[in-house]
Amino acid sequence: LTVRLQGLSIDPPMLTREENRVLTEVAPATPMGDLLRRFWIPAALSADLPERNGDPVRVRLAGEQFVAWRDGSGSVGLFDELCMHRGASLALARCEGDGLRCIYHGWKFAVDGTILETPNFARDTVRSRLRAPTYPTREAGGLVWAYLGPRELEPPFPHYDYFDLDPRQVPIYRGVIDANWVQVLEGTLDPSHRLILHQDSLGPAYRKNIDQGGALGAAIEAREFVSADLAPECEVEDTAFGCEGVAILDAVADGRATKYVRAHTWVMPFLSLPTKSSFVFTVPLDDRSAVLYGIEAREVADDGERERMVELLYAGPPSSYVDGRYRFGAAERWGQDRSRMDERFTGVEGVVPEDIAVVLSMGPIFDRSRENLVPADQLVIRMRKRMLQAARDLQLGREPFMLAPEEARKLGGNPRLMDDPSNWQEVVLPGNAPYRPAAR
Ligand code: FES
Ligand SMILES: [Fe+2]
Repeated sequence: LTVRLQGLSIDPPMLTREENRVLTEVAPATPMGDLLRRFWIPAALSADLPERNGDPVRVRLAGEQFVAWRDGSGSVGLFDELCMHRGASLALARCEGDGLRCIYHGWKFAVDGTILETPNFARDTVRSRLRAPTYPTREAGGLVWAYLGPRELEPPFPHYDYFDLDPRQVPIYRGVIDANWVQVLEGTLDPSHRLILHQDSLGPAYRKNIDQGGALGAAIEAREFVSADLAPECEVEDTAFGCEGVAILDAVADGRATKYVRAHTWVMPFLSLPTKSSFVFTVPLDDRSAVLYGIEAREVADDGERERMVELLYAGPPSSYVDGRYRFGAAERWGQDRSRMDERFTGVEGVVPEDIAVVLSMGPIFDRSRENLVPADQLVIRMRKRMLQAARDLQLGREPFMLAPEEARKLGGNPRLMDDPSNWQEVVLPGNAPYRPAAR
């Protein structure tokens, strides 16, 4: 059975319940859990670990619990939370510069897993033969990244171009959402919801904000929007690192009908680029919670301006979060104020809160076998299929496809007016971005 969407053949686009389960489960030793562990994962904000030898921080990732800690030399370590001796949490540990000391029996561990001391066991048997469970980390672009997979298969660390900016001046949003991460990721790869769900943020109000000028205006201008066409023609192609999709919309420029082409880039597995300058990482904390990092790749020196930009482009009102977690559940109608629906289509304040409200309303793990998909959903469909295929392949011993280091710079494409949208690949071409169709 093959269903055709706009000439694109997808053997049935709807997922079975079993496929949905595989797609959404992230714990160790699940097919998707194994796959995700083969990539560098955004684990925390660098700002969560502000000081050398500061307090250890509990970190949840893909259904596992860790402790992150910056040692006296500034290196960040990621430890299994529970001490390798008899399981006390290292969140309780004493910080001793060169290592964390478990308060239960005093074992002390360096960030690289070296066991420095075992005070309740004088011989060096444990120290010399074992290593503490720690994981490779990197710090770049305002984030701490971790690799949780097999040591010998550690992939190269991709260097995105925004890593060259001063992370303290880059607007970074972080929000925790109590829903499966794929639901959140799908919202970042969904060209047709932008102009419907977000019509008040990305529609006329958007123009008004551009007119305010300044860095904020420039940021918004770069993510410009010029079409009222709600039913974009969508095309999608596999690339070596994920997919490129475009929405092709009717537009009028200088009184003449033309097309407005908007690219959406998906980089396996966590990264979406709705424009060249917006890096959006969706990361599973466990099956039922995710974190969204939204990064605007520009330096804004003024702290107030940077916060305003995060609020306007991503977060919405700070009052919608408690400790970085979106606070409204079903009892609060996910943050919707129905008395405001005359002035605002959704009744939900803020761009990402609008996404979060609909994502939460689907339930923590949506059953995709219930869907009725249309051509505008193609990019989402393709992402799911490629992830499921990669997860199956890995179970069969085939290595996952991933971004090559030389492709990590200049990903994505900026929206563009084009008279001939059949050349849409120009929006994401080499020199502009590493458009490289996948070998079939
Ligand atoms: S449980 Fe940590 S040293 Fe014993
Ligand atoms: Fe959205």
